[in-house]
Amino acid sequence: MILKFGIQIAMIVCVCANVSERKLRAVVAEGATTLREVRQQCGAGAGCGACHDAIRHCVRQCRAEAQIASVELAAAATQSLATA
Ligand code: FES
Repeated sequence: MILKFGIQIAMIVCVCANVSERKLRAVVAEGATTLREVRQQCGAGAGCGACHDAIRHCVRQCRAEAQIASVELAAAATQSLATA
């Protein structure tokens, strides 16, 4: 997502299927972990294939962000229990 002049602009990752980065992130949040699963759930990557690397990158990035968030949450919970 790009902010330009305070306006959110959707990044289209797959032009063939008109799938934005936001939609791709939602599909990954719902459980897609591979290009094939993304294709099955939203159609991204089913056309010319030019977006395949971008989709794989987005999936890896989303999963890494989710993993960091869960580690931070666990650390916060541990710290909260330690101070209670
Ligand atoms: S741009 Fe995604 S399949 Fe063509």
